[in-house]
Amino acid sequence: MELIFRFFEELTMLGPADNRITKEILQSLFLPDDPVILDIGSGKGRQTRILADAKPDSRIVPTDVYIPYLQAIRDIPGTSPVCGTMDNLPFKEDSIDLIWSEGAINIMGFSQGITAWKPLLKDGGYLAISEICWHKSNPPEDLRKFWEEDSPGTSSEEERIRDAEAAGYTVTSTIRLPMKAWKDYYLPVETRINEWRKSYPDAETASFLDTMEREIEIFRIYGSYYGYTFFILKKE
Ligand SMILES: C[S@@+](CC[C@H](N)C(=O)[O-])C[C@H]1O[C@@H](n2cnc3c(N)ncnc32)[C@H](O)[C@@H]1O
Repeated sequence: MELIFRFFEELTMLGPADNRITKEILQSLFLPDDPVILDIGSGKGRQTRILADAKPDSRIVPTDVYIPYLQAIRDIPGTSPVCGTMDNLPFKEDSIDLIWSEGAINIMGFSQGITAWKPLLKDGGYLAISEICWHKSNPPEDLRKFWEEDSPGTSSEEERIRDAEAAGYTVTSTIRLPMKAWKDYYLPVETRINEWRKSYPDAETASFLDTMEREIEIFRIYGSYYGYTFFILKKE
């Protein structure tokens, strides 16, 4: 089992996020009554709870590869978790009103993900995804190299918009998450790194924790150059 899955098991935030923005985006969409929502890479359901709360008539399907995360969200009303991988989702074409995915599409690749998921959406359905992007042009080489290894294919918002249009979507809006989204995420992560250093002194864990610390250091130095952007796409 990968260390990263275990590391986040007891944390609430599995990535940078802003619950207020999640709710506002959901409320801005024109969804039918009783919409079917697929939450891809749902993790422990931080955003699933917001979606269920803001749209109580919806049927939500959180999907993730890691069963313990899905077990943590069994209590959310109106949800039926499905364990599976995002590149092979067991859903019918034209069956979903809204696909939601926060901080997860980089696992598959932005263009690959939005292209593979599009047939699942009904006409007029939405795809709301947050993805790491360059927020300034010409990021320093040190920084570019780090993200190229950690999140290959990091791109500008303009390029992502072009990718979405090339895949046949209309881009209805983009919203940047504030810097606070990273700070809220990293604070408990730092505490957990310190706990794990004491509890698991083996070389493999030490190397994993070093990488996590390097990421936080990169954020402290270069945090204004990149960030998460939400892309709200529509299948016309
Ligand atoms: C950065 S976390 C985001 C979780 C959640 N959306 C949130 O914002 O709190 C990425 C999630 O993707 C899941 N994941 C990793 N590989 C996956 C795959 N191949 N298919 C589906 N989910 C995957 C991880 O287990 C993790 O829960």
